[in-house]
Amino acid sequence: MLLATRQRRQGFRIFYSDYDDNAGRVVKPSKPDRIKPIDWLTLSCYAPYALHVLPQRSRFMDTAVQPAAGVDRADLVRRLLGHLDAKSTRLADNVYFEPARGYIDPDQFAGEVDKLFRRSPLWVAWSAELPNAGDYKAIEIAQVPMIFLRGKDGSVRGFRNSCTHRGATLLPEGTGCIGRRIVCPYHAWSFDHDGKLTGIPHDQGFAPLDRSQRGLTAIPVQEKYGMIFACADPDGQFDLDDHLSGLGPELGAHGWANFTAGNTRTISCASNYKLAMDTYCEAYHFPYVHTNSLPTAIPNTMEVDNFGHHIRMTYPFGPIDELRGRPDGELAQAVLGQHMFIVYIIFPNVAVVTTDFGASAYQVLPGAVVGESTTTDHQIVTGAADDDLKSMIVAGLDYNFSLVDTEDYPLSERVFRSLRAGTPSALVFGRNEPALHLLHDSFNAATSAQ
Ligand code: FES
Ligand SMILES: [Fe+2]
Repeated sequence: MLLATRQRRQGFRIFYSDYDDNAGRVVKPSKPDRIKPIDWLTLSCYAPYALHVLPQRSRFMDTAVQPAAGVDRADLVRRLLGHLDAKSTRLADNVYFEPARGYIDPDQFAGEVDKLFRRSPLWVAWSAELPNAGDYKAIEIAQVPMIFLRGKDGSVRGFRNSCTHRGATLLPEGTGCIGRRIVCPYHAWSFDHDGKLTGIPHDQGFAPLDRSQRGLTAIPVQEKYGMIFACADPDGQFDLDDHLSGLGPELGAHGWANFTAGNTRTISCASNYKLAMDTYCEAYHFPYVHTNSLPTAIPNTMEVDNFGHHIRMTYPFGPIDELRGRPDGELAQAVLGQHMFIVYIIFPNVAVVTTDFGASAYQVLPGAVVGESTTTDHQIVTGAADDDLKSMIVAGLDYNFSLVDTEDYPLSERVFRSLRAGTPSALVFGRNEPALHLLHDSFNAATSAQ
């Protein structure tokens, strides 16, 4: 049985009495004087039960925990239970060797940054980050500053974040609302929601300049499925559904378009961006890296599917056991965040940790040099959550991000230091790490293509 209590200034904490973890083990309760801070897997696994004690439970359960129609949950549950029964996981055909050079070579890095980050479509934001006309998000990807701005017509446009007078960046990185127009901080040229140049102080000094030729530089943007994608190259037109290779409707079925924004947090990692991405792609490390922090995680068990370069990884949670022998209709009701969770790799640089309560898009970006990267966690929370519940879900997402920061990325940095020093000359991806095979096949294919 789980009890949830709210503690002033510290958000929600959870403690529980003895319970069976569905693997035949009895989990001891936390002592009352050692109430443990909420942890994401505890929250994720048991949130539906914890909500029994919350007054808003029925509304949340009725509206938020509805399976997304686009995901065949019954099929995923059957496959995961099969692995648990056989003590197996999804296996690749062979062991894979990835040369270390691909993580440390500055020339290769420069080519990848140009191809993958400056000339290809990328996930750049949740729709929920720009809910209203005038809302913007300013980011810099591969040293290219960009703005995404929701116009008065409700659609999102993308621009280079560069003034057309003398090039100052117009908006600081982050999200906000421009109000009626964007005003450059340097000489106060102003631009409207469509990027048109609308104001020049002392404009007699610029006659006969054609204002219509000095609007902001537009970049291609597409918004669909509750997400925004863009290409930094003004000539880099793309079709989002083609780019998503059939994954789009499944992503859309999670209902992210109706979620609301949670926290946004950024960390730096002294490691190559591909090593950072690698940390999201296998469950082999769970019991060794997350020994105490993810006690309910099931190690080395996952299902993997790919959609072009994009990957869906599905991980079982302990409570999946209660679905054994249930009819397909009930398997289809499996809850993401309780029975299993999904991580989508949206190629090349975003890992979306997905539950029915909320999601984190971990956006990994290369730094200025081969051994630097940053990761930003962009959170969204189901629109069915009120403020109290939202803070509880956000606390869980924050906790998860803290594990990436303090447990996963330090290992990534250790790997980078070794590779930079010349050993080993190749990394080994086991047959039990098939998502790494797919990801690096895609990196190699995308960067070698003309
Ligand atoms: S650089 Fe923007 S107004 Fe001068
Ligand atoms: Fe991890």
